[in-house]
Amino acid sequence: MQVCDFLIIGSGIAGLYTALNLPEDSRVLVVTKKKAVDTNTSYAQGGIAAAVSKEDSIQLHYQDTLAAGDGLCNEHAVRVLVEEGPQKIKDLIKLGVHFDIRGNEPERGKEGAHSCNRILRCSGDKTGKVIHDYLLKRICSSKNIKLLENTLAIELIAHEGRCLGAVVKRGSCIERILAQAVIIAMGGICGIYERTTNSPEILGDGVALAFRAGAGLMDMEFVQFHPTAFFEKKCDRVFLISEAVRGEGGRLYNAYGERFMEKVHPLKELAPRDIVARAIFSQMKKTGKEFVWLDITHHSRKFLEKRFPTIYSYCMKRGIDISKDPIPVAPAAHYHMGGIKTDLNGKTNVPGLYACGEAACNGVHGANRLASNSLLEGLVFGSRTAQSAAGFAAKNYLDNMGKLSFDGTVKGDLLYTDKKTLKYVKKLMQNNTGIERDKKGLSKVLSFINHRSSFNVAHIHNNVLLVSYLVSYSAILREESRGCHLRKDFDVKRKEWEKHIVLKKGRWGKIEVEYVKNK
Ligand code: SIN
Repeated sequence: MQVCDFLIIGSGIAGLYTALNLPEDSRVLVVTKKKAVDTNTSYAQGGIAAAVSKEDSIQLHYQDTLAAGDGLCNEHAVRVLVEEGPQKIKDLIKLGVHFDIRGNEPERGKEGAHSCNRILRCSGDKTGKVIHDYLLKRICSSKNIKLLENTLAIELIAHEGRCLGAVVKRGSCIERILAQAVIIAMGGICGIYERTTNSPEILGDGVALAFRAGAGLMDMEFVQFHPTAFFEKKCDRVFLISEAVRGEGGRLYNAYGERFMEKVHPLKELAPRDIVARAIFSQMKKTGKEFVWLDITHHSRKFLEKRFPTIYSYCMKRGIDISKDPIPVAPAAHYHMGGIKTDLNGKTNVPGLYACGEAACNGVHGANRLASNSLLEGLVFGSRTAQSAAGFAAKNYLDNMGKLSFDGTVKGDLLYTDKKTLKYVKKLMQNNTGIERDKKGLSKVLSFINHRSSFNVAHIHNNVLLVSYLVSYSAILREESRGCHLRKDFDVKRKEWEKHIVLKKGRWGKIEVEYVKNK
C-alpha cells in the first residue's frame, strides 16, 4: 500500500500540468498505464489556440468556440478557457517552452472554423510533443512529485462515499494507493474505434473507473472524427495529417478529382471539423473509395519540410512526396467531447474525485470541439482542478487513511476483452456509432453488449464494453443531429435538444439518465 496526498491518473498535458500546480509541500503521485510519453498529447501536431495577437481578441476566440460547438457549449466554461488561455501561454514560455517565432512574435497558423490566424506551434508540427517533454522534465525534477509508469488503475477506492485512492496493477501485483484526492486525467475513448488517431491504449479507462464509482458522465454521444487521417489499411493508430495542412491552403479532392468542399460550406476546407469529416465520408460513399485526396503541392518542398517535418517524413517513408503528390486521407475517431461531468474546477459529484482534460466534460466543447482548443483546455482546467483539489484536501484532511477498511477489489484481467472481441467491438463501433448513426445500427451495438453482460450493463467491469455501450446508449437517446452527432433517422437540429444527457450507474444493472439544460 502507498499513501500520498494527491493521486493523478494519466500523464498527458492535463495530468502533468495539474501535478505541477498542486502545493509544493504535498506528496503527489502520477500513475500512467504505459510509459509517460505514451499519451495523445505527444501526437498533437497542429498546436494550441489562444488569442494573443493584436488582430485577434478574446471575444473572437469565444465566438468561434461557441459556433463550432453547435449550440451545446457551456458558455461559462468557454469564457474561462479563452480568458485564462493567454496567461497559460505566458506560463509555458516561462517554463522554457519555445514557440515558433516570426520576427518578435509567435507565428500563428490557421485551422478550421477559426476566424483568424490563432494557432501557436512548436517545431512546425511537433507542438504536443515539445510541450509534453518540457512538462515531463519539470515533473522529473520536482521533489514532491513521483511518477509511476506501467501502472494501470483498475478501480477507485471509496470510504463512506468519499474517493480515497485507487487499486492499481503493476506487472502482476495489485496494490492500493491511498490519497486525499484523486484526479482522473486519462484521456478520452477513441481507441474503441477501428480507425483512430489515438494511441490504441486509449480505451476510456478513466470514464469507466469514474462511472463505476458513481460519477455522472455527460455528452457521451459526441465523438469527433478528424477529417484527414492518413489512409492506410492495417495499423493500430492512424497517422494524423494536421488540419494546419488545410490551414496552409491544402485542398480536398474526391477520387474523380473534383474539389467538393466549395459546394458544402463557405469556409470550404476550413469549415468546422464535423462538417468536413461528414463531407469526406459522403464523397467516399459516392465514389466507392476508402479515401479522398488532400493536395498541398502548391508549396515548395523546402517550405513543407520545415513547416510539417513529421508529416513530410511520414508520407515520404510511404512513397509520397507531399510537394508532388496528393495525400490519401479519410476520417478517423480523434477526440471525445463527452466524459466525466465536472464543474469548472474539475469537481465531480463524488467527493474527493476530480477530472480534467479529455477524460472530463464541463461542456466547454459542446457538440464539436474547435481545432487546437484541447491542449489549452488541459492547461486551463488542469490548473483550476489543482486548486480545487488542494482546497478540498486542506479542508477534509484525513490523517488515519492507512487504518480505514475498504471494499473488496476486482481482478485487473476483467477490464479488457480478448483481442478477437476487441477487434469485433471496434468494428461494430466504427460502423454503427461512427460518423453517421441510426436507431437500427445503435441497437445492434447495445444488443451485442447486453447479451455479453447478461443485461447487467451498469456493473460491467470490462472497460471497452462499458464505454462502447455508454456512447451508443447516449447516441440512441439523442434524437436529433448536432455537431458530431449525425442521426440519419433524425437529420435536423432541434431546439428542445439544447440539453446534455448525463448517465449514472443505477440500481439493478440499470443506467440512470438525467437531462441537464445547457447553460
Ligand atoms: C490537428 O493538428 O489537426 C489536430 C489538432 C486538434 O485536434 O485540435
